Amino acid sequence: MNQITSLCKRRGFVFPSSEIYSGFGSCYDFGPLGVELKNNIKKAWWKEMLQNQEDVVGLDASILMSAKVWQASGHLTAGFADELVDCKKCHHRFRKDFLEKNKCPDCGGELTEARKFNLMMKTFVGPVEDEAAQTYLRAETCQGIYVNFLNVLNSSRQKIPFGIAQIGKAFRNEITPGNFIFRMREFEQMEMQWFCEPKQADKFFDFWKEQRIKWYLGLGIKKENIRAIEVPEKERAHYAKKQIDIEYKFAFGWKEIEGIHNRGDWDLSNHAKHSRQDLRYFDEAAKEKYFPHIIETSVGVERSFLAFLCEAYQEVEGGRTKTTKSKKEKEIVLKLHQDLAPIKIIVLPLVKNKLKIVKKAREVWQLLKPWFVCQYDDAGSIGRRYRRGDEIGVLYAITIDFETLEQEDVTIRDRDTMKQERIKIKELIEFLKSKSVMGDSRLSG
Ligand code: GAP
Repeated sequence: MNQITSLCKRRGFVFPSSEIYSGFGSCYDFGPLGVELKNNIKKAWWKEMLQNQEDVVGLDASILMSAKVWQASGHLTAGFADELVDCKKCHHRFRKDFLEKNKCPDCGGELTEARKFNLMMKTFVGPVEDEAAQTYLRAETCQGIYVNFLNVLNSSRQKIPFGIAQIGKAFRNEITPGNFIFRMREFEQMEMQWFCEPKQADKFFDFWKEQRIKWYLGLGIKKENIRAIEVPEKERAHYAKKQIDIEYKFAFGWKEIEGIHNRGDWDLSNHAKHSRQDLRYFDEAAKEKYFPHIIETSVGVERSFLAFLCEAYQEVEGGRTKTTKSKKEKEIVLKLHQDLAPIKIIVLPLVKNKLKIVKKAREVWQLLKPWFVCQYDDAGSIGRRYRRGDEIGVLYAITIDFETLEQEDVTIRDRDTMKQERIKIKELIEFLKSKSVMGDSRLSG
């Protein structure tokens, strides 16, 4: 984890928030490469959960909602609270369920009785900071989906079963955040809510669980590093009738990256009661009205980001880029799946003091830029530039050399096979497309 944290900082994936003011509790900023990787994860999820499905539609609900939403959902009551204990000696605070012994892990002191601590973040809307103006930053994105269930149903002419998917920020006042971006106070969720007939819920639960595991495997997570664990009743979220955690084998242990929940009619029936709106679905075939049951898939963008990074991070023996003198010295290669790699291609002029080479290299860069996320790099020796590319997971390095000026071709080096080929400049785009390098969707389709 230390190596990954330092790579993230050094190469511009993740920075601590407000760093020049000594940081800000468990919030992180995503740098130039981090934002590309995050966007690629979101694109891959959206593609899988909407584009590849027949009956899932999207939504982007607001973060701020009426406080009544959170009363109805059960998040303001004990259901969404952690049990905390304080050390009577050093006054440090801990989550009770994280402690192995009934003693302070920092100083061995005696602990107080456990108290419930709600995780919702309060805020005020409007000029007066009174109770009527108080609301909360959403703690899960899905509540925006439930309160729009009727809107979506009526406007998009869906019939049950169907799904609504959403990506957006969520906030939790976590008490013991940590493990880098694993547990944060501000994070993003990618959630899909599948509305179905109650008697079909078990079937769809299993279906979506399988789909979600396949998604991770398809993006390069190895089978042995991912598992699905059924959560026993007393540990389940307050809304869940059944819950499976998809866990990844991090360096700090097996940890949840995604939850699959059978939420039954918990959400729609509670919102119906609190809002006095009829949120039941009229089933034309069965000629009856019922609250659809909900199967939810919920994953944190940053947690999957961390899992993908951990999976991709490799230290290989030296000599790969000629920047190391012996095999014992290690070089880093980030073997991210090609859809996730933040930068697909780097364009490298062999030397930067020959005008013709620089001009040609910039031409190649301009040619590729509209199609692929592509960088130009002329800083340092060619070996160092290859190495920098490997460290950030660049798929292809394209070198423009003296031969290019004569032959109108370039050397293209594949990150994974290390194979180098000469390709004509005019065939480059087709070549990269044939390798399924994800292009800019607006232009390459
Ligand atoms: N709507 C259901 C829900 O929110 P959850 O298990 O509380 O369920 C789902 O959260 C996912 O959101 C988790 O599996 C995790 O990936 C992510 N997540 C939750 N809390 C987080 C935190 N404090 N920091 C980062 N990600 C978090």
